[in-house]
Amino acid sequence: MFQINTVNKISPAGLDCFDRAKYAWGEELANADAILVRSASLHEQEFAPSLKAIARAGAGVNNIPLDRCTEQGIAVFNTPGANANAVKEMVLLGLLMSARKISAAMDWVKTLKGSGADVSKLVEKGKSQFVGPELAGKKLGVVGLGAIGALVANAAEALGMTVYGYDPYISVDGAWSLSRSVIHVNSLKEIYENADYITIHVPATKETKGFINASSIALMKDGVRILNFARGDLVEEQDILDALDERRVKVYLTDFPTDAMLDHAGVVAFPHLGASTPESEDNCARMAVQELVDYLEHGNIRNSVNLPAAAMPPSALPRICVIHRNIPTLISQISTDLGGLNIENMLNKSRGDYAYTMLDVNQKPDDATVAKLNAIEGVIRVRVIG
Ligand code: MLT
Repeated sequence: MFQINTVNKISPAGLDCFDRAKYAWGEELANADAILVRSASLHEQEFAPSLKAIARAGAGVNNIPLDRCTEQGIAVFNTPGANANAVKEMVLLGLLMSARKISAAMDWVKTLKGSGADVSKLVEKGKSQFVGPELAGKKLGVVGLGAIGALVANAAEALGMTVYGYDPYISVDGAWSLSRSVIHVNSLKEIYENADYITIHVPATKETKGFINASSIALMKDGVRILNFARGDLVEEQDILDALDERRVKVYLTDFPTDAMLDHAGVVAFPHLGASTPESEDNCARMAVQELVDYLEHGNIRNSVNLPAAAMPPSALPRICVIHRNIPTLISQISTDLGGLNIENMLNKSRGDYAYTMLDVNQKPDDATVAKLNAIEGVIRVRVIG
């Protein structure tokens, strides 16, 4: 029986994908095989030796200590694309709200409560303070053309915007999914110089942290509107507030407000609502559960953020899965240490400093063989399935 520790409330649509004969789940499982998590931070959590995988029902993984997981041989998965439509819809709302002063207008109209028959007269008199431009004909820069960025780019294009897209890591599928009218630029500078609106859709990493800062803002058009539905860390807080004060940035619309932003007139803030739809929660949970099942039962790695993608068809043979460092001669050492076992199928994939090897062998390795494999220098974890 596989034990799954559910750290957040996970949609039943996902949990129902577990075969109840093989899986048990709950919030307090100390020696779990896997963790299912949404936004809760795992940075302070110790991981039991039994833990083999963490699946994040969502895209961002900044709540998970990736380096520590890799060193402990724990595969980390996310669910790219599963919430993309929900976020796209919020970005469209955000574009409209950053243009048309909707939030301030809604607050103001409520202040007319009690004006009786004068409400319509006051509405007509006061509305001019909330005039804002149309999106059609304006230029949108999309930074990051993954599942969300690509949907946003296409939808903005359909609204009549001229869309510039930047993504040095765009996948072939991502490129195919983009409307042909999206202008693919090769530098952020081209986005900054052209865009009236900029929306960011990149993960928060060491490389991207604070990339919206005084220097990048200095390259942008005066009065630019910036939307951040990705992560708060991507934007330098003080720099964006200064730019708003100087009116160099007209609006900063964010799903990740800080205390200092909440009462700033130039900030439109949401409480991290981008993916908060029942559809997206269901999709993310289903995808996360399927990834865990495929990994726990077959050793297959799909949508991992710390290990290479690797998948072999399910097999009736015993399968040995090895997470190891990406160093020469290690594979031949594994093959030697298998002793008399015959390798029927084999797959080796690498990703940066780490690699993953799957071997279907003619008979189950005994404990001594597994111990030998574990003792090879550079091997991080050996798992035998079947
Ligand atoms: C994501 O990273 O998937 C979204 O920001 C939503 C979430 O954090 O759950």
